[in-house]
Amino acid sequence: MDNFHELLLNRRSIRKYTDQKVDPEDVRLILESALTAPSSKGARSWQFIVVEDREMLDHLSGCKSNYAASMSTAPLAVVVTADITKSEAWIEDASVAASFMQLQVAALGLGSCWVEVRDRYRDDGEPAEDYVRQALGIPEEFGVLCIITIGHKNEERRPIDPAKLQWEKVHIGKWRNEQ
Ligand SMILES: Cc1cc2nc3c(=O)[nH]c(=O)nc-3n(C[C@H](O)[C@H](O)[C@H](O)COP(=O)(O)O)c2cc1C
Repeated sequence: MDNFHELLLNRRSIRKYTDQKVDPEDVRLILESALTAPSSKGARSWQFIVVEDREMLDHLSGCKSNYAASMSTAPLAVVVTADITKSEAWIEDASVAASFMQLQVAALGLGSCWVEVRDRYRDDGEPAEDYVRQALGIPEEFGVLCIITIGHKNEERRPIDPAKLQWEKVHIGKWRNEQ
């Protein structure tokens, strides 16, 4: 997509993917986008784990009881972690990197979905972070923010309608209660 504004309107969360693998060159571009992300004090506290193994993706989909469905068809997922001892802004660092990846994915015409891991739980009470950390051997000092599922879209999502944007949430000059 050439036009950035058009890209923003067309990026929607995709939770159903085809079987087609993501081209390795596209995977590289997606990871590169994460590595270009700004971070607090330039700490670059993030680290990313690329998962393409079907069995592991299925296992990771069990990290929480709901809203992990996009993992069951995704051919690719990037687990977004950051070193909590390196930056008090690790959540922000990791969030920006995750968002950059979602935009790069959209620019490639692929789909993605953010699966929240931090502060989410399985039905048995186990924190999703511990489950993912254990499955992938992630060190204890790394927080696991989310998993970005990625693949070729297998569902149609309507673009965002600019006429429906919540402009009332934008205050000009100072906070105003009346809109
Ligand atoms: C912080 C954050 C957490 C999210 N967690 C999940 C999730 O766990 N599972 C999921 O399917 N979608 C998740 N999403 C995607 C949102 O549900 C989605 O962005 C929202 O409904 C708006 O839809 P859109 O992305 O298609 O515009 C998350 C998005 C963000 C930014």
